[in-house]
Amino acid sequence: VSATGDLLVRGISELVTNDAVRPGDLATVVDAAVILRGGRVAWVGPERALPAGIGDLPVLSCGGRAALPGFVDAHTHVIFAGDRAAEFEARLAGARYEELLAAGGGILATVRATRAAGDEELAATAAARLRRMLAAGTTTVEVKSGYGLDVATERRMLEVVRRLDAELPITVVPTFLGAHVLPPEFRDDRDAYVELVCGPILDACAPLARSCDVFCDETAFDVGEARRILTAGRARGLRPRLHADQLSRVGAAALAAEIGALSADHLDHASDEDLVALRTAGTVAVLLPGVSLAMRTPFPDGRRIWDAGVTVALATDCNPGTAWVETMPFVIALACLEMGLTPAQAVWAATRGGALALGETAAGRLHPGARGDLVVLDAPGHLHLPYRPDGRLVWRVIKDGAVVA
Ligand code: NIG
Ligand code: FE
Repeated sequence: VSATGDLLVRGISELVTNDAVRPGDLATVVDAAVILRGGRVAWVGPERALPAGIGDLPVLSCGGRAALPGFVDAHTHVIFAGDRAAEFEARLAGARYEELLAAGGGILATVRATRAAGDEELAATAAARLRRMLAAGTTTVEVKSGYGLDVATERRMLEVVRRLDAELPITVVPTFLGAHVLPPEFRDDRDAYVELVCGPILDACAPLARSCDVFCDETAFDVGEARRILTAGRARGLRPRLHADQLSRVGAAALAAEIGALSADHLDHASDEDLVALRTAGTVAVLLPGVSLAMRTPFPDGRRIWDAGVTVALATDCNPGTAWVETMPFVIALACLEMGLTPAQAVWAATRGGALALGETAAGRLHPGARGDLVVLDAPGHLHLPYRPDGRLVWRVIKDGAVVA
């Protein structure tokens, strides 16, 4: 519709702005309109109060549909080669994720496939996933490395991330995850791999990443190793974040708070003290209900985490092993149906919460100056997202002031 990022969006039955005084409150405007100029939000309010003299803008008439900020998916692994459908079948039959990894499968199977794949294949398969995410309303997405585990492939993954950010109408935020699992070449020398990550791999990757993540868990890296890696990342300007206490409680959530991480993700086994520490540190809890669904593990209690005062975000964790989930509306529905979040909390967590988890302050809310990223639903209100969990409710997606899907 608009090449300039100028657009008048009108006829909105319910507009979610997230522009409330109290964080976590889902502010809404009834019978609303939004003016986008130069790709940014210029004005938000009731349509009857539209300012005079706005000139000749391209118009999107929503015909009484709901609109909200574009979804911010704050945790994905969408760059990978191959798939693990056979492992999924084995897990359904009783195989355990940790055993598959210990036998050289799991993440290591994806590492082998990713190392062997060319850049074009990695970019094309990831672009197809990102286009589906965009069509489902995601306008900002975090993407991690972590299936290379060597200097060349970790760097290549982040180069593909940069290229996708430039080529697709979706903001792609890069995260370095060199410490995903221990690569097989270092099976007998963990310390040498941690040294490699803290030195040559980070040297090659830090210029292409925004934050540094570590999978801190039983089968991956311990708290001491994670602290070393996150500290080395921070020295190169990368904000820390953690895959924390997903499989068991190893102290990763506490480390996230100690180090002032931007986010602590998963948190299946976080204790009450961990939640207090995260709240005090201002670390965002990124919850990933698609993982609990596909792993058939108990869903963490999202209500408990929210009520502890921790800022909550929702994300897909899209990856070939634990959750090949691409769409945020599905994640919102799971969070309401299985994690105890209210629809308002889940929608906030999938928009503003995700933006805070990424430090993307201009995303996830609609007020003057914010990014002109909106989702228009083929439904009268945000409640319909969890209410119709398999509904394909996204009608239009607006990115930087232009209708892109
Ligand atoms: O977030 N837990 C570690 N990393 C991913 C899984 C990646 C994979 O299995 O390929 C996760 O669940
Ligand atoms: Fe993950």
